[in-house]
Amino acid sequence: MKPEIQRISQISSHQSVICIMGDDQIPKRLKLTKQENDFAQNQLQAKEECIFINSYNRSVYLIRLKEAIAHYKVREELRRNAYNLRKLIKENNYSELVITSENAYKGAIEDFTEGLLLSFYSFDKYKTKPGKDDKKSYPGKLLLQGDLEDTEIKWIIDLTDAVYFTRDRIKEPVNKLNASALAEEIKKTGDSAGFKVEILTKGKIEALKMGGLLAVNKGSVDPPVFCILEWHPANCLNKNPIVLVGKGIVYDTGGLNIKTGDFMAGMNGDMAGAATVTGVLYIVAKTGLPLHIIGLIPSTDNRPGGNAYTQGDIITMYNKMTVEIGNTDAEGRLILADAISYASKYSPELIIDIATLTGSAAMTFGNQAIAVMTNADRKYIKLLEECGNDVYERIAELPLWDEYGESLKSDVADLRNIGGREAGAIIAGKFLERFAEFPLIHMDIAGTEMLKKDDYYRLKSGPASGLRLLSTFLRRVAADYSEKK
Ligand code: BES
Ligand code: ZN
Ligand code: ZN
Repeated sequence: MKPEIQRISQISSHQSVICIMGDDQIPKRLKLTKQENDFAQNQLQAKEECIFINSYNRSVYLIRLKEAIAHYKVREELRRNAYNLRKLIKENNYSELVITSENAYKGAIEDFTEGLLLSFYSFDKYKTKPGKDDKKSYPGKLLLQGDLEDTEIKWIIDLTDAVYFTRDRIKEPVNKLNASALAEEIKKTGDSAGFKVEILTKGKIEALKMGGLLAVNKGSVDPPVFCILEWHPANCLNKNPIVLVGKGIVYDTGGLNIKTGDFMAGMNGDMAGAATVTGVLYIVAKTGLPLHIIGLIPSTDNRPGGNAYTQGDIITMYNKMTVEIGNTDAEGRLILADAISYASKYSPELIIDIATLTGSAAMTFGNQAIAVMTNADRKYIKLLEECGNDVYERIAELPLWDEYGESLKSDVADLRNIGGREAGAIIAGKFLERFAEFPLIHMDIAGTEMLKKDDYYRLKSGPASGLRLLSTFLRRVAADYSEKK
């Protein structure tokens, strides 16, 4: 369970407290005893960054920032400090815990709180008995004290709520969450946050001739879905919407080109892009961003089966282009391509797709960067990079040079769904670009989403990679629009 967040104006002497310090001044309002104070001063002199004072009726944690500035690396270190403290905090079983700061940068309390909330997440709904990591011992309440903006606190609450339910969906196995169940979940989120959700079922997808989505679905016993999410507030500032596209493969076996060895493990998370797009729309709607935003989510599982699509098949995509199937495991680009060309009907300012698309992206950047490719105006990538540093979901760009598209040529169709062995992430990007009639940013999160161990508060149990990044990016886009008005 996620702790509740409240603002308080004063700290009382019996409350356990975390104080983020920009220098060596221990604030009087913590009311340390002389002995505690002496101990803390000694520790500070010894350049300890995290000091734990455990007294009879309460605990005090002092976190000494190396620098009291809001540089993105300092901010990240603070979130990581929160992750590092999560176990100790849990062991101490607080019902509530105060977070305050002294001479730190503005926003330090929010950053720490964000890191802590993200570190407390766990996926244990299917455990019938509480395990040793029983969630109940996390504090029920975090009480924030200091120079805080209500809008920032609300942002953190909405954002972390979104990360929690997005992670929950990513973690669901396919026997609990097939494409139709995912659509129902998306609908629920729309109803609770206030954005519109239209679910196109198989008949409609057939009528629209979304050949990519239908081909991938052929081996499945479950029908595909195509969800259209829309946030269109009366006060929106953009004339043409921003369209977000999320890969919704609820399980990727590889299809007839079946994944071997251990490569199939974790492929219930191949819908992370879809879950993340839903999370972004939740935040956008909850915080009332004055932007027109559309989310498009094509969803199915990818399985072998009597009727499964095969290598050599030639399919006709939604935009009428024909594609020769070179590998049934390159399914993500097929369902995304249909959605990307469907986006044309909105004449979007920008299309952003997010997908666990290629092992190649993971091999290139590991878990340190989201691989991004774009043909859009440079202002967007600059802003995305800045936001990526701020929330520490960093991006690294790969080029979309035309030469990389050459290996996608087919002898029998307009295009093949695979190219050469090298530069796989870029070739996938080139494939998608062929379907985009409007500027595209393609985000490949295969490396950042599928973690082998916790990357601090980006937990291995599904970090919901790109959610904080895209939400922050859209917030900034809205702010830039307001400034120009
Ligand atoms: N879902 C996978 C990509 C993936 C791999 C995500 C590892 C996360 C971790 C995708 O559908 C896939 O199988 N891609 C193939 C493409 C290849 C057949 C051209 C890949 O990357 O191997
Ligand atoms: Zn695949
Ligand atoms: Zn896949």
